[in-house]
Amino acid sequence: MLIVYHSQSGSSAKLAQAASAGARSELRVRTLRAWDACTNDLAVADGLLLIAAENSGALSGSMKDFLDRSFYPAIARGLVLPYALILSAGNDGRGAQRQAQRILSGYPFPAATEPLILRGETCDAHLRDSAALGQAFAAGLAMGIF
Ligand SMILES: Cc1cc2nc3c(=O)[nH]c(=O)nc-3n(C[C@H](O)[C@H](O)[C@H](O)COP(=O)(O)O)c2cc1C
Repeated sequence: MLIVYHSQSGSSAKLAQAASAGARSELRVRTLRAWDACTNDLAVADGLLLIAAENSGALSGSMKDFLDRSFYPAIARGLVLPYALILSAGNDGRGAQRQAQRILSGYPFPAATEPLILRGETCDAHLRDSAALGQAFAAGLAMGIF
């Protein structure tokens, strides 16, 4: 399973760590920052978990850049990966959610779970929710459900 995240302040990075810890109990996980990830990383994964913030009503720039860079190459290679999405937001997150879902429907990657939006300062409950999503997604992948 591949986790790709972008984090400016460290909030999304903490969520990525928690999701990775949850997923690792089920299968092998690679965690990459969005600016380090490319289509080759997608090609060797069975599932994709994206973790990023909403910035100015949209998906954070580096995550958008990763998706922009991998869009045509992923289509050319016929990649189809189930994905899950965790969004960190101050008080909204719906703009980033809409944008991410719209972009990913173009790959086309199917959504394995409902997006998880975590609002406000990152807290223990957010970390627990991220770990639970990571574990559930990984368990579904390991069992071949997605
Ligand atoms: C430039 C900037 C723009 C932001 N815009 C929004 C926004 O439109 N909606 C929202 O809910 N939060 C917004 N936030 C808050 C972030 O989404 C939130 O602090 C998030 O946890 C940041 O995670 P990160 O620092 O790990 O990227 C913004 C933060 C910054 C720095």
